Amino acid sequence: MKKVKILQMTTSDVDAVYKIEEMVHPNHHWSKDSFYNELSNKLAKYFCVKDENDKILGFIGFWQIFEESHITTLAIHPDFRRLQLAQMLLLKAIEECYSDMIKYITLEVRESNIPAISLYEKFLFESIGVRKNYYQDNGENAIIMFTQNIWYDKFKENIKTLKENINKVELFK
Ligand SMILES: CC(C)(COP(=O)(O)OP(=O)(O)OC[C@H]1O[C@@H](n2cnc3c(N)ncnc32)[C@H](O)[C@@H]1OP(=O)(O)O)[C@@H](O)C(=O)NCCC(=O)NCCS
Repeated sequence: MKKVKILQMTTSDVDAVYKIEEMVHPNHHWSKDSFYNELSNKLAKYFCVKDENDKILGFIGFWQIFEESHITTLAIHPDFRRLQLAQMLLLKAIEECYSDMIKYITLEVRESNIPAISLYEKFLFESIGVRKNYYQDNGENAIIMFTQNIWYDKFKENIKTLKENINKVELFK
């Protein structure tokens, strides 16, 4: 598992990505067409984490609009959780944000999704509000989370520490 790599998602990845999507969100998942559309969206960036045999273990997507990045999706195959793969994908997304001169990163997350909320808090995202009944499948509220300005020292120092703590340092050379 040490030799994972993060690569831009392409149309040939969509079948495997969709399988994970179905598994992770059985009742309310994106369609394959949503992924194909997103791959031709000029404002969007999608990345996969793959093992040494090119098996897709997870993926992340985000939109870069003016000074704001919006994370649209993040999922790790259930068999490969707690291996820091989501952290690696988020670090990659944040690296792209710096390249694109983004200042703030935002996302919505189900209020019951403790693993994801804990992950984002580790990256210093903060809850700034609630979208009531946001999710159509069960009417669950969404928590809106935002970073502070990612160019501030506190955010940068935290990212530096997170990178150092991840085994896969060569991804960020
Ligand atoms: C949330 C998710 C992406 C985390 O992926 P992961 O690769 O297992 O996460 P990582 O191993 O990188 O964990 C990073 C941090 O996230 C938090 N975390 C992850 N899983 C957790 C869990 N089950 N319980 C509590 N915290 C958890 C922890 O803070 C963890 O840091 P630690 O290992 O130092 O404690 C994964 O559980 C998933 O795909 N869930 C379903 C899809 C989803 O909810 N996506 C987010 C939509 S907003």
